Amino acid sequence: MTLKAVLCGCGAMAHGWMRALKTTPGLAEAITIVGLVDLDRSAARSLAEAFDLTDAVVGTDLDRVLEETRADLLFDVVVPVARKAVVAAGLKHGCHVLSEKPMATSLEEARELIALAETAGRIHAVVQNRRFISGIRRMRRFVESGAIGELTGVHCDFFIAPHFGGFREQMENVLLLDMAIHTFDAARFVSGKRPLSVYCLETNPAGSWYAHGASANAIFKFSDDVAFTYRGSWCAEGRRTSWESAWRLVGSKGMLTWDGEEAFEATVAGTGEGLLRGHRAIDVPPPPREEETHGHASVIADFLNAIRSGHPPETAGFDNIKSLAMVFGAIESARTGQPVAIQV
Ligand SMILES: NC(=O)c1ccc[n+]([C@@H]2O[C@H](COP(=O)([O-])OP(=O)(O)OC[C@H]3O[C@@H](n4cnc5c(N)ncnc54)[C@H](O)[C@@H]3O)[C@@H](O)[C@H]2O)c1
Repeated sequence: MTLKAVLCGCGAMAHGWMRALKTTPGLAEAITIVGLVDLDRSAARSLAEAFDLTDAVVGTDLDRVLEETRADLLFDVVVPVARKAVVAAGLKHGCHVLSEKPMATSLEEARELIALAETAGRIHAVVQNRRFISGIRRMRRFVESGAIGELTGVHCDFFIAPHFGGFREQMENVLLLDMAIHTFDAARFVSGKRPLSVYCLETNPAGSWYAHGASANAIFKFSDDVAFTYRGSWCAEGRRTSWESAWRLVGSKGMLTWDGEEAFEATVAGTGEGLLRGHRAIDVPPPPREEETHGHASVIADFLNAIRSGHPPETAGFDNIKSLAMVFGAIESARTGQPVAIQV
């Protein structure tokens, strides 16, 4: 059965959604876009034209379009400040809702949305697309295999200088809220641990073209005494890291590094004598061929599976709030200069 979807928020990211929906086998047949909504009607119109959606209802009033189309699904691709009202409208109309990240602009808002989804008996999931990237899943399997022993530390570096323009250059805590959430979520996924507390230094470095918080340095305590450190900047000109961060996982027997692109290196202790024992390289098993690692398309497919199977999606709101809590804990710590306990 084809599900009817309304997409709300027809800006830059909506084009990525439409490409994923159109070009991914299985999705194109399973979902029909019946409505496009944007406060700026011309944005909705141009998305309709770009993807040949001649039958879709185009409008500026989400309630009205949901009413008219009787959609099963709402795809929420609006800017973060508009998120809560948009998700709430979708759930009120009986839609399952897939939202862009971040899932809310505060933990209170996130809790309210989880409660609304529960009451409505609908699925509410978040596009935490970067946890579906092959390298992230490969690291998780490697940690689970025990090849580097007990995990003790996860360390991520993220240094890039994108000149986006638009809402990001005006928002507060831009790196933590708009980008670091991906790495925080991935660290939670890769380690399989719970975030317990955080200390964070957030700055807007000299020369920054953002209004606030283009750089953050955070130290998290995870369960089982695992340390997670994040050093990031969105105004670091020069040779950049990967968008996935450069990773170093430290275990009781050895370490794994991933450059965020193709290069994995795993080593355990060597057999030398004296101060340093040297190291011995070990294999990092390649990803299985059938793995679902296609960013947005994988998140949408997981969302559809959840609707069909009744099992929660991997990025369900009630789980994703733990990653959001890491972000808000870091923001609170940066504001107060004190470590902050992470409570969901
Ligand atoms: N998952 C990812 O990798 C990823 C990448 C980029 C952006 N995003 C997220 O996608 C979301 C949108 O980002 P973007 O870059 O497309 O922004 P954008 O500014 O290009 O587009 C947002 C659109 O939403 C519309 N809008 C705002 N409020 C609305 C409302 N109440 N009702 C209807 N339309 C409304 C705006 O008019 C605009 O056209 C953000 O939450 C962003 O963080 C995610």
